[in-house]
Order: sequence, then C-alpha cells, then structure tokens
Amino acid sequence: MVAKTVYLNGEYLPLDEAKVSVLDRGFLFGDGIYEVIPAYCGHLFRFHDHIVRLQNSLDSIRIQNPHSPEQWLAILSPLLDTSKDQYIYLQITRGVAPTRDHAFPKLVTPTIFAMCSDIAPFSGRTEGIKAVTLDDSRWDLCNVKATTLLANILLRQRAEEQGCAEAILVKNGLVTEGAASNLFAVLDGVLVTPPKGSAILPGITRDVILELAAQHDVPFREGNISLAELKTASEIWVTSSTREIVPVVILDNQPVSDGRPGPVWQSINRIFQEYKKLS
Ligand code: PDD
Repeated sequence: MVAKTVYLNGEYLPLDEAKVSVLDRGFLFGDGIYEVIPAYCGHLFRFHDHIVRLQNSLDSIRIQNPHSPEQWLAILSPLLDTSKDQYIYLQITRGVAPTRDHAFPKLVTPTIFAMCSDIAPFSGRTEGIKAVTLDDSRWDLCNVKATTLLANILLRQRAEEQGCAEAILVKNGLVTEGAASNLFAVLDGVLVTPPKGSAILPGITRDVILELAAQHDVPFREGNISLAELKTASEIWVTSSTREIVPVVILDNQPVSDGRPGPVWQSINRIFQEYKKLS
C-alpha cells in the first residue's frame, strides 16, 4: 500500500493531490530514471549505494543531480514509517517541456517524485517460485535504472501468464538477469552471477550477497552463465530490494534439484536477514 503522503517537487502532498503535467517528458517519452530503496523500520538500507547508482543513472541520461546525498536523505526520511518494512520509490524525469520534441528541451527543471510503500509479504521468498526463461528483448543500457520499462513489463507479464513469478532473460545464449531482479546460480558448488555491464542492472542486493559470500567463505565468482549451464544448476535465485533473495524451485516446468530451496540459499538468506537487521 502507498502511504498517504508523497513528495513532489519540494512539497509533501496527499497522494491524490500530487499532479504532474501531461507534457512531462516522463509521461510522454519515459524520459527519466528511478530508484527503489528498501527501509527496515525507518532505516534506509544501503542508502549510499542507492544514491551512487542514482547518480550513475542521471549521468547516463544527462540530467544534473538536483540534490546532495544529505539533501536526498532529508527529503526521503519524512516519508518513512519507523514501525514497518517499506520501500521508497524515487523518480526523476527530465521535466515539463513546452512541446513534444525528442531532443532535450532547453531550460527545463527535472520533476522529482517520491513515495513510500509497504513491502508486501511474498510467500515465494521462503517457499521458492516458478520461473521461465525468455529471450531478453531489452535495449543496450540495462545498467541504467530507466523508467522506460516496457520490455521488462511485457516479459514479466508473459511469465505471469505461464504461472511463473519471474522471467529469466537470455541474450545470445547467456543468462542476463530477471525481468525485475538479478540472477544467481550454484554451479558445481560455486555461487555464480553474471558480471556487471550494460546487459544487467547493477543490483544493490546483488552487491550485498557477494560481500556476504566473501565474508562467510562461500565460494563465488562473477561470470557468464549459458542457458545450458543454468539448466544444470543445483540452485537458482533471483534477487531484488523488494523481494530480497528468492529461490527458483521450478525452471521451465522442471524442478531445480529436488524442487525445494537449497542449502546455499538457506545459509546466505540467514546471513542476509541478520545483516539487514544490524545495518
Ligand atoms: N527492480 N534487475 C532489474 C532489471 C531490476 O528491475 C531490479 C530491481 C534488479 C535488482 O536491483 P536491486 O537489488 O538494487 O533492487 C535487477 C526494482 C525492485 C523495481 O524495479 O521495482
């Protein structure tokens, strides 16, 4: 559920009073970027990392960052409820232009919107989910957290229509990530995740998992995973800020190992839950 108060261009407003012009380039072109930042009992998780990624996304689409990290923290904090697990959705578009023209308008002020929602309970987080592999039909800037998500939406919808909670995407025979998540596989006892680059979003949850694996002597590497290798994985997980670490127990209608969350997931998930509480 979205909290009743949202932030829009310097003001805190009731949700139904927050309005944006139809000439906003976010509405007309999807010309904007966003962040999703989890907050546990009012504490923004890995806030600095999310702000670094926000900066990288803004740089990629050539919008100047309107605020310092301290200012962002001051803007977002009042939206949070300290008694709950929630997430902030923050969106910045290029702003409202006088006419619809693909090229950047001159002298435009970015539109800044933020809202806070409860993290909905998700049974797949512990029970595991079904996933389906689909061709990655997205563009070459998947490292940018762009609001332009039509390909991701169509892919996730196709997965849902096949009774699956996520689509695992494959480009030129290699697995990239999920429609709204990063991907991990356990291959011959080693935790493997595709490398950063333009084919995937550099997930913050992904970074945390790699750090925790290193600290707890879980063998891991960043490397390419072919679709054929994925089919031999003893464990597959998809990860994101809102769903955390989700085991895939059925892939393309076939069980992954015995069709239950595996031992490496049990271990990393326990470590992640502890880390989340302490940070
Ligand atoms: N999506 N890859 C894609 C394509 C994603 O959309 C997401 C997250 C991730 C995981 O990133 P992180 O661990 O930083 O959440 C990877 C968010 C949650 C969303 O669009 O709602």
